[in-house]
Amino acid sequence: MTHKNSHLRPKIALYEPDIPQNTAAILRTCACLGADLEIIQPCGFLMNDKRFKRVAMDYMDEKIIKFYSSAEEFFSNKFKERIILMTTKGSRSYTSFKFKINDTLLFGRESAGVPEKIHRVIKNRLKIPMIKKKRSLNLASSVAIVLAENLRQNKFINQFVGKLIKKNVKDLIVV
Ligand SMILES: C[S@@+](CC[C@H](N)C(=O)[O-])C[C@H]1O[C@@H](n2cnc3c(N)ncnc32)[C@H](O)[C@@H]1O
Repeated sequence: MTHKNSHLRPKIALYEPDIPQNTAAILRTCACLGADLEIIQPCGFLMNDKRFKRVAMDYMDEKIIKFYSSAEEFFSNKFKERIILMTTKGSRSYTSFKFKINDTLLFGRESAGVPEKIHRVIKNRLKIPMIKKKRSLNLASSVAIVLAENLRQNKFINQFVGKLIKKNVKDLIVV
């Protein structure tokens, strides 16, 4: 199930996540910052896994998670939305990208990122610049960094939506 204002919220999509504690930490980040979480299955764990529940706590009740049974189902539901792939192989930094509030930010699995065929079909591929020779950030850390930048650029409108005039909100959405 997704949140009723989801047209005004970023979506964090996880490709076949492996580590329950990471997904649970991301769920909490999404709940606290106002984003929807999308999980492309299969996952490396079950939602009733003790390690997941321990970190997810009551944030599991927020009903902001949507599941896709496969990458094909995910992409066929996204034809009207902009997908941004976060990858260590991106050539452009996320800091130079203009995010829309309803963008879908896609992250790869902890062990292997996303397959090459997914890489190829997504035009917007961004990286978080790292110190030379470092492999990658933790998945949950990379989500927090990029989600915060999306919300910063979009003036944290979920938090302040009641105070914004309609016109400003319209400008932030991809149509
Ligand atoms: C632990 S990393 C995966 C590492 C994997 N071995 C690879 O080479 O893609 C999990 C996910 O976090 C995101 N990520 C981690 N560090 C990143 C960075 N510096 N820039 C962009 N995305 C990053 C990517 O979505 C990545 O697929």
